[in-house]
Amino acid sequence: MSEVIENKRPVSWRTAITKNEDGDIHIRGYNLEDMISSLSFPAAIFLVLKGELPSDAEEKMMNAIFVSCIDAGIAPPSVGAARKVFSGGNSFNSSVAAGIMSFGDYHGGAIEQSAKFLLELLEGKDTSNIPQLAEETVRTYLAEKKRFLGLGHKIHTVDPRTTRLINVAEKAGFGGKHLTFMLEVAKQYKIQKPEKNLPLNVDGAIAAIICDMGFDWKLGKAFFIIARTPGLCAHIHEEWSREKPFRRLEHNQHIYDGVDDRKLDK
Ligand SMILES: CC(C)(COP(=O)(O)OP(=O)(O)OC[C@H]1O[C@@H](n2cnc3c(N)ncnc32)[C@H](O)[C@@H]1OP(=O)(O)O)[C@@H](O)C(=O)NCCC(=O)NCCS
Repeated sequence: MSEVIENKRPVSWRTAITKNEDGDIHIRGYNLEDMISSLSFPAAIFLVLKGELPSDAEEKMMNAIFVSCIDAGIAPPSVGAARKVFSGGNSFNSSVAAGIMSFGDYHGGAIEQSAKFLLELLEGKDTSNIPQLAEETVRTYLAEKKRFLGLGHKIHTVDPRTTRLINVAEKAGFGGKHLTFMLEVAKQYKIQKPEKNLPLNVDGAIAAIICDMGFDWKLGKAFFIIARTPGLCAHIHEEWSREKPFRRLEHNQHIYDGVDDRKLDK
C-alpha cells in the first residue's frame, strides 16, 4: 500500500535509517560528515543497526564481536567457496558473495536461529532458576536428537574466541540471562552427554550476547557477515595475487567410489 505525501506523489519506498537530501547525508539523524571524524566503525555499525549511538560498553562489545570473527583460516566453507569462485575466473564481488552465501546453520548463520531460540524461550519466563531451565532444555534436545545451535566445533574442544568474548561481555555488563542460560546449556551437555564434548562456540556466544544487548534476532547473520567480510576479501586478494587460476582438487585429494566401469550396449 502506498501512502501519499504533501506534493501528492505516491510513496511506496520508505526508510527511517538515512536521509539524503540537499547534499547532506544524515544517518539516524546524525550528519555523516561529523560521524567521519568522530565515530569508530563499530559505533557507526551499532548506530545504523540499532538506531542510537552506543555507550562505551556497547561500542567495546561490538568491536570485540567483530574482531572475534574476522577470519579463522583457509579451511571453513566460506573461504573455500570464495577462493574457488575466484579461481574459476569470476569477479571479486561474486567471490565475496559466494563466501557469504555459504554462511548457514552450521557456519556463521547459527547466530540467527540461536538468538531467536534464546529470545523466544526466555521471553516472559521465570528465570530465577536458569540451571533447571537449561537442564530441561538439554534433556528435551537429546530426547529429540536435535542439534543445539551454538554448541560444537570442528576442531576446538574449547573455542578460544568464546572464552575471551565472554570475558569482555561480563566486564561490559552483557552477561545477562541469555548468556547465563547459554553457559548453563553448555554445562548440561557436559553432564548429560560428556562423550560428545560440545563446547560453546563463537556463534553461540555472540547469539547470547546480542540478545543481552537488546538486538533483534533477525540481525544475527548480519553480525557474522559484517565481521567475516574483511577476512573473505583478504583471502580473495591472496588467491588473486599468489595463485594461478582454475585450482582443482589434486588426485590424492579425492576418490571415486561409484560403480565399476561398464559397457554401454546401445
Ligand atoms: C559445528 C559442527 C558442524 C561441528 O560438527 P562436528 O564436530 O564435525 O560433529 P559431527 O557433525 O560429526 O557430529 C558428531 C556428533 O555430535 C553431535 N553434535 C554435534 N554438534 C551438536 C550440537 N550442536 N548439538 C547436539 N549434538 C551435536 C552430532 O549429532 C553427532 O552425534 P552422533 O555421533 O550421535 O551422530 C556441529 O557441532 C554443529 O552442527 N553445531 C551446531 C551449529 C553451530 O553452532 N555452528 C557454529 C560453528 S562455529
